[in-house]
Amino acid sequence: MLKEIEEQPDVLARTAFERLRDEEGDVEFEDGFAFGDDELSSFRRLRFMAMGTSFHSALLGKLMLEELAALPGDTLNASEFLYSPRLPEQDALTVVISQSGETADSLRAMREVQARGGQVLGLCNVRGSTLDREADHVILTHCGPEVGVASTKAFFGQVVALYLLAVRVGRARRVLDAAAGRRLLDDLRHLRPKLDALFGAEEQAATGRAADLLEPAAGCLFLGRSLNYPIALEGALKLKEISYIHAEGYAAGEMKHGPIALISPEFPVVAIATPGRTYEKMLSNIEEVRARGGRVIAVGVRGDQRLGELADAVLPVPEVPELLSPLVNVIPLQQLSYEVALRLGREIDQPRNLAKSVTVE
Ligand code: G6P
Repeated sequence: MLKEIEEQPDVLARTAFERLRDEEGDVEFEDGFAFGDDELSSFRRLRFMAMGTSFHSALLGKLMLEELAALPGDTLNASEFLYSPRLPEQDALTVVISQSGETADSLRAMREVQARGGQVLGLCNVRGSTLDREADHVILTHCGPEVGVASTKAFFGQVVALYLLAVRVGRARRVLDAAAGRRLLDDLRHLRPKLDALFGAEEQAATGRAADLLEPAAGCLFLGRSLNYPIALEGALKLKEISYIHAEGYAAGEMKHGPIALISPEFPVVAIATPGRTYEKMLSNIEEVRARGGRVIAVGVRGDQRLGELADAVLPVPEVPELLSPLVNVIPLQQLSYEVALRLGREIDQPRNLAKSVTVE
């Protein structure tokens, strides 16, 4: 898992860079993605479905497509789709996301969409997998084989691919002009060197201080808003998968409606508070936690003094455009889970009761 966490800067380069058409400010996928601009413009809505960590990518895909392509989306856990009413599918595109391309619930949902007359775009990491073969269109992530049961680099690759998809659909639908497309692609290229900054000695020391707070915890809460709400969910999933500490991810606005009752010095909060539209509100959440005696681990940009004064430990990240912040913020949370699980002597690469690929419904 540690190796796969450290491969993520390369995953960015491998999944994205050859597909960028810098001059046009656009993205070109391979033959498996055979949509023309007219067809992409004809869809009225998007649906994202997946399981596990890939479901958290799905949540991000919806937000990115809504923002860059102005196309309304929704996200559904793939195992729930079977029970949804049969509404017309002709105006919708369904994106099914699966690292392995073999998750039974996701494949079942794909086939059900197709049986109802809809089109499926598969997003997966394994060439020749069932999703790759049966989806109507495919985008492959180029993460390399993922061996650790808890997904890290595959999630990262999925989010990169979804950002590319959002640019492509935004350009096709003329929501983005070439200049806007170029800026978005530049942002992605500039991310590569910034990611390296997440693997230094200072970051490792910060992970250690945060792990000191989590290791003895009875449970904990991960909070984020907007684009970093899925990252809060993913941070919590990672921690529970490999450390067996109970963790819940919440939209931070929901904290007051229940989870706040749990807060105590033994029940710390991990808060994602990087710059952007949610920053001030996240700081208020942190203050509320502190006022109730809670301990706070914050993900924040390096040198953020306000955060430094409020939080018990800060996991420092480089400043990046808000739309790309999930890619940067997820990494210290993976590192934190890894460190806590290591200290607790867990079987990190093969956690109990979990399988890399769940092939039964
Ligand atoms: C299993 C794995 C998870 C993974 C999920 C979905 O539960 O343990 O790490 O996120 O399956 O897998 P997929 O291959 O469809 O992305």
